[in-house]
Amino acid sequence: MRITLEVWRQAHAQASGAFVTYQIDDATPEMSMPELLDRLNDQLVEAGDEPVAFESDCREGICGCCGITIDDRPHGPVPNTPTCQQHLRNFSDGDVLRLEPFRSEAFPVVKDLVVDRSALDRVVQGGGFVSVDTGTAPDAESHQISFQRAEKGLDFAACIGCGACVAACPNGAAHLFGGALLTHFSTLPQGLPERSKRGRGVVKALEQDFGPCSTYGECVEVCPADIPLAAIGAVNREVMRAAWRRGKDD
Ligand code: SF4
Ligand code: FES
Repeated sequence: MRITLEVWRQAHAQASGAFVTYQIDDATPEMSMPELLDRLNDQLVEAGDEPVAFESDCREGICGCCGITIDDRPHGPVPNTPTCQQHLRNFSDGDVLRLEPFRSEAFPVVKDLVVDRSALDRVVQGGGFVSVDTGTAPDAESHQISFQRAEKGLDFAACIGCGACVAACPNGAAHLFGGALLTHFSTLPQGLPERSKRGRGVVKALEQDFGPCSTYGECVEVCPADIPLAAIGAVNREVMRAAWRRGKDD
């Protein structure tokens, strides 16, 4: 396959960037997007040019670090699929693909296709953890949890922290991410002792770095973990609950 790539090149955070066009003549339909970029970088290094900076780690949809925008869509054209699982079989010979970093004010560009997503880490620092003593494994086994509740907790814990929801949102909101985190913890017994404190901490971090949510729903179209729009309702529910119970359970 012959693929033409228009790739965003930006030397560093303060530099102004621009699209640069490259051609790859020996791409194959089985190639994933990181593999295509590997191929491009082989060409660039052979020619003595600077390779394109991009992130990837697991390359199997687990770690959440590979996100780029392909043809104006965070992660790429296949819905709910991370960048590393977007394959060239979904494109045609001769296609022109435009690759750029996730675009959002909360995600400044570090270099080329790499952005700084530490704003998401600050949301986790706001309450995405359990700091009370929850006992050992046998203590956990002694907590009876219904199958439905356990499944719900795991469904919302599936968020891989990629940030595509933020890049897709016209407001740059991270409510899908924050809501997945809050729902995961409020569904399971280990998350209940610090529930109000967590609600306040997460919402404060969301308001600090990200935009407001207008429930456009663009986020759920790109989320590789299939986090549902119901997560957004959890953000409002948890912050109202925290205000109501201030001083009672934190
Ligand atoms: S909610 Fe979905 S899109 Fe947003 S960070 Fe988590 S996995 Fe990525
Ligand atoms: S490289 Fe880990 S999710 Fe894509």
